[in-house]
Parts: sequence; C-alpha cells; structure tokens
Amino acid sequence: MKDWMGKSKAIFLLGSLALILAGCGKENLSALMPKGYGADTSMDLIILSLIVMTFVFIVVILVLVIVLSRFRKKKGQEDYIPRQVEGNKTLETVWTVIPIILVIILAVPTVAATFDLADDAGSEDGLNIEVTGNQYWWHFNYEGQEVQTSQDMYIPVGEKVHLNMMASDVIHSFWVPSLTGKMDANPENENTMYIEAHEEGVYWGKCAELCGPSHSLMDFKVIAVSPEEFDQWVEDMQNVDPEEEPQDAVAQDGKEAFEENSCMGCHAIGSSPAQVGPNLTAFGDRSKIAGILEPTKENLVDWIMDPESIKPGNKMTGNYPDLSEEEADSIAEYLMQLQPSEITPESAGN
Ligand code: CUA
Repeated sequence: MKDWMGKSKAIFLLGSLALILAGCGKENLSALMPKGYGADTSMDLIILSLIVMTFVFIVVILVLVIVLSRFRKKKGQEDYIPRQVEGNKTLETVWTVIPIILVIILAVPTVAATFDLADDAGSEDGLNIEVTGNQYWWHFNYEGQEVQTSQDMYIPVGEKVHLNMMASDVIHSFWVPSLTGKMDANPENENTMYIEAHEEGVYWGKCAELCGPSHSLMDFKVIAVSPEEFDQWVEDMQNVDPEEEPQDAVAQDGKEAFEENSCMGCHAIGSSPAQVGPNLTAFGDRSKIAGILEPTKENLVDWIMDPESIKPGNKMTGNYPDLSEEEADSIAEYLMQLQPSEITPESAGN
C-alpha cells in the first residue's frame, strides 16, 4: 500500500512538472517557436539530436530489460555462478562503431549550419546595425542612415540584417530566441551576426550574459515590419527635430526641465551619437519603459523619481539633481509626446 502511495505521488509530481514546463516559453520569446532563419536552423538541429538521443535511450532500455529478465537468478539456482566471459570482439566493435556513426550524424549538420550562419554575418551589403550593450540597455546605430535608437530595434521583414556588436562596459550577450542564437557583445572586439524575421511582429530579446545586478532586466525588443513600413520609419526618425517645441504647456515645461537639469548630458534626442544613457528619439513610440515597464506616464514618473528601485545598479541613479514630483511629471509628459512615427509596436502586429 505504502509502495503504491509512493509511486502515485511520484507520478503526480512528474505530471505536474510536465504541465508547468509545457507553460514555459512565451510566443516570440522561445527558441522552440522559431520565427527566423537562425532559429529555424537551431530547431532542426534540436530535433535531429532528439531523434538520435531517443534512439540511444530506447536501445539501452531494451538491452537492460532483456538482460534483467533473461539472466536473473531463478529458483533453485542459489549457488549458481554464470559462465565467466572476458572480452567479446563483436560486441566491442558494435559499441564503438555505432556511437561514431551517431556522432557523425550530429556533427556534420551542426558544423555545416555553423558555417552557414557565419557566412554572411560580416557582410557590408544591406542593412547594418551597430549594436552596443550597456549596463542595462541596448543602443542601436543604423549605419549610414543617421538613425540612432535604443531598446526597440526596427527591422524589415524577410531581409538579412547585419549586426556589428560591441559593449561599452562589461560583456553582455544579445539574444532574441525566436529569431536566432546568442552572440556576445564584448568591450574589446566586434562580433558579427545577422538576424532575419519571417513574419511581422515584436520579438523579445534578453541579455544572456551575467553583467550585474540588473542583468535579468536588460530586455529589448526587435520589431519586424514590412519593408515599406521600415522605410517610412527610417524617414520619420531622420526627420526628428530635437528642438521641436511640444504642443501643450505641461510638455513645454517638461522640455525646459529636461534641458535645465542637464538630462541631455547623458541622453540624446535625434541622431547625435554620444551617449552615456539611452537615446530617447521616439521615446513615446517605445514598447516598454526602461525595457521592462508598460509604457504609461505613471511608470515613467516612477522610473524618473526612483530608477534604483526598478533597475538596481543602473547609471542614472545618483547622476542627476533631485527632481520635484511636478518636474518629473512634466518631463514624463514631454518624453511620452516624442512620437514621430506612425509605425508603432501595436501596428506591427504585437
Ligand atoms: Cu547585460 Cu546581462
């Protein structure tokens, strides 16, 4: 009875675990739901290794069951000692040759895929984006386009987009699971890769290298839009005038407060490249605030007033003068109104 209870408990636990794991992976944040060329390649390799591993598992279990049932000690054989065998050429050949064949089956497509993905990574043709990892945000410079942005990377669907990657401080790792594998962003050298999305959508990205207390909050998005929408977005971004006066009075106060409190010392609006903090061009179009909060004004005020409680260890904490609640509110209003583009994550089919 006790034995049965133990077994049913184990089955219940395993069943629950399977259910919980089945919930793992959100759409657009899962290597198991590929939506891009690199992710397709990885998925094919995952399936191939699963087939090989399942084959090995079945063979081992079969042999185990046969041996256990055929050679167990039977009644009346208490003193029986089986025939002592030493060395078996056939068996040894079989269990050497089969694993070698399995390793070849795994290695050939893996090496081929690695070369295939590396082949076009450093190309000069097409769209090149310079990616910089910073504690705890991502900067994107569209090379030759005079477009700079942070956190939301727009790309045209169905096109190879080349990423030239570095870091400004410590090692980070750029990872958009639905689109392709990881690539380290290093402070010393440039790494190259490319991404390509099959469908329009918002793909979630994570930093995949422990880089400090807010490593797990270093999220970003890749927003794939149609090539026409992408061209429009580039044009809208190029036409941003950082000096443009906001429409309403609160936002105008916000712009003044933003300038008076030297926010521009670290942030930029427009295509100016020097940055300590994220570029805020088109901030009102961002899919998230600080990469993680829903894009509401209340969240932005909370972020401006106390960034440390939201992203510990970030570089904005302690680097700007004390702001009054009113100043933070007007700055938030100003930033939320920076919306030069009609192409937003919602219209990209989020
Ligand atoms: Cu950047 Cu982890």
